Amino acid sequence: MPDPSRPRVLVTRRIPEVGLAIVRAAAEVDLWEGELPPPRDELLRRVRGVDGLLSLLTDRVDDELLDAAGPGLKVVANLAVGVDNIDLAACARRGIPVGNTPGVLTEATADIAWALLMSAARRLPEARDFVLQDRWKTWGPLDFLGKDLAGATLGIVGFGRIGREVAKRARGFGMRIVYHSRTRASAEVEAETGATPLGFHELLATSDFVSIHVDLNATTRGLFGAEAIGRMKEGAILVNTSRGPVVDQVALHAALSSGRLFAAALDVTDPEPLRADHPLLALPNCLILPHIASATVRTRDAMATKAARNIVAGLRGEPLPDPVAPPAR
Ligand code: DGY
Repeated sequence: MPDPSRPRVLVTRRIPEVGLAIVRAAAEVDLWEGELPPPRDELLRRVRGVDGLLSLLTDRVDDELLDAAGPGLKVVANLAVGVDNIDLAACARRGIPVGNTPGVLTEATADIAWALLMSAARRLPEARDFVLQDRWKTWGPLDFLGKDLAGATLGIVGFGRIGREVAKRARGFGMRIVYHSRTRASAEVEAETGATPLGFHELLATSDFVSIHVDLNATTRGLFGAEAIGRMKEGAILVNTSRGPVVDQVALHAALSSGRLFAAALDVTDPEPLRADHPLLALPNCLILPHIASATVRTRDAMATKAARNIVAGLRGEPLPDPVAPPAR
């Protein structure tokens, strides 16, 4: 039986046990055990009267949900670094602090960006299918020709923690590295990563590979539309591990099917999940993963721990260890 004297926290999916244990030590936990996210009406029902909400990027936290929770809600902790599923202004209006999980998924995400980049450059999915379909008859001098990394230019759009980690890996491959970001990185960061700042259009025009690492917000939604994609170098490769809506998938499809872009590799799509009959999935030069950049055991444990610590601090009325700044008014 739940103890009515303890705070109540809704956790909207099974998360690593290490995080759940921290929340359980501080509160009564209502855990949504479903494999899929709670349907909206279920979420609105279960959130009623809770003190804390441990949400996932698949849960929309907006006025309706906050109203359903009621005035006792003290904290929202997202199990993600991205918080585009949360209406931060709505939380700020109610004085509810929001936490996220920065820092601990930087390496795992940079690794996936690299896995995607290399898979697309060297056509690994196509080559694997070829073997599985028993079409491998001999060694062919013209088979599966891809793109070299050494000497190529990598353009990184968004130069926060993850973008910088992607740059560091590129040094080992002998690439030229350029970046575009709202604010210029410090001289130390530029020296450590070997990356040089460039204007957005110049980056697009000169990069053989473009890797996207921006947050999803009003200025980045559709950033890679027909115009930006049209400015990319002929034969370039686009990698996206940020959020799906940053890329216009119709424009991307056109650029991939015409051969203007050599390939694209996406860990994120719009919508998610992308159904198997989506036109992008019919293209051999488009590799799509189901949003798994942070999916390593250590990283997910660390994310769960951070989310749980945000919950506990919020329940106690203390500053969150990883607060998300409310939007500027
Ligand atoms: C995030 O944290 O924002 C990722 O997209 C999921 O790990």
